[in-house]
Amino acid sequence: MEIKQVGVLGAGLMGHGIAQVVAQAGYDVVLREADQGALDKGVGKIERQLARAVEKGRAEQADADAVRARIAPTLDYGDLAGCDLVIEAITEDLGLKLEMWREVDAVAAPEALFATNTSSLSVIDQAASTSRPDRFFGLHFFNPAQVMKLVEVVRGITTTDQTFDAGLEFTKSLGKMGIPTRDKAGFIVNRLLVPYMLDAIRAYEEGVGSIEEIDAAMKAGAGHPMGPLLLADFVGLDTLGAICDVLFDEFRERRFARPPTLRKMLAAGWYGRKSGMGFYDYSGDEPVGNPAV
Ligand code: 3HC
Repeated sequence: MEIKQVGVLGAGLMGHGIAQVVAQAGYDVVLREADQGALDKGVGKIERQLARAVEKGRAEQADADAVRARIAPTLDYGDLAGCDLVIEAITEDLGLKLEMWREVDAVAAPEALFATNTSSLSVIDQAASTSRPDRFFGLHFFNPAQVMKLVEVVRGITTTDQTFDAGLEFTKSLGKMGIPTRDKAGFIVNRLLVPYMLDAIRAYEEGVGSIEEIDAAMKAGAGHPMGPLLLADFVGLDTLGAICDVLFDEFRERRFARPPTLRKMLAAGWYGRKSGMGFYDYSGDEPVGNPAV
C-alpha cells in the first residue's frame, strides 16, 4: 500500500521531531496532541528548526514553508481518518497508549498501518489491543529525531512480512538507517544504552567522579558526543525511569534497576533538560552540575 499521509500522535520531545522528519520527506502529516498548549509548543519547535535550517543555508525559505504547510496540527482523532500510517509517540505509559489506540483504531481506515515509537514496551501488548495486530510494528526513533540517523524497525510476533517490509521501506524513504530488530524489551540500543546511563549514576553515587568529570571522561576517553549524565538529562529522567522499570520487570537484573539517586530526583520533579533541572541546572546560558544531587 502506498503511504501518502502519516499521522503522528504526540508533539512532545520525540513526536515533534518525527513529524518534522516525515514532512521533510514529502509526506502529509497530521500531528495530534491532547491539549492546545502542548500542540503549540511542538509546532513552535518545528518552526524554529525550519527557520534555523534557512538561516544556516541548509534549506530554501520556500522549502521550509512547504514542509510546515504539510503538517496539519490537530486535537481531534477524527482528522487521522485519511492516514495510511499512524505513528504514536506519546508518554511511555502502556495504559495511556492503549486508550489512545482505541480512539485511533475506531477512526483509521482498516488498511492503515500502525507503528509505536515505544522505547521499551512490548509491541505485541499494543498490537493486540487493536483490530490490526498484523499491520502493527515498532518504529523507534532517537532523540533528536531530526539529527539521529537510526530508526529501529521492530517486528512484533503478529507483524506480517508485508507490514514489516513497508516499515523498512518507509524508514528508508525518510533518509534514515532502518535496523530490523525483534520485539524484546529495549530492542538493541536501549538494552545497551540504558544500563550504561544507570551505571554512570551508580558510579556517581559511589564517588568515582563528579557529574562533570564522569561526563568529560566518557566524551574524551570513549569519543561519545555527550557524557552519560548529560545524556540522561537529554533523554528525560522520567523517560529513563520508565524504561528501566520495563527492563527490570522483564529481566529482573540489577543492572536495569533504578539507582536511588534517580528515584529521588524524579520525586523532586527533576526530569532533566525539559524541566530545567536534572544532573545539570539549565537555568543559565550553559548547563552546570547540580550541587544538590
Ligand atoms: N533538534 C533538532 N536539531 C538539533 C537538535 C534538536 N534537539 N539538537 C541539535 N540539533 C542539530 C543542530 O541544529 C545542529 O545542526 P546545524 O549545525 O546544522 O544547525 C546539529 O544538530 C549539531 O548540533 P549542535 O552543534 O548544537 O551540538 P552537537 O554537535 O553537540 O550535537 C547532538 C548535538 C546531535 C544532540 C549530539 O550531542 C549527540 O549526538 N548527542 C547524543 C544523542 C543521543 O545519544 N541520542 C540518543 C538518545 S537515546 C534515545 O533517544 C532513545 C530513547 O528511546 C530514549
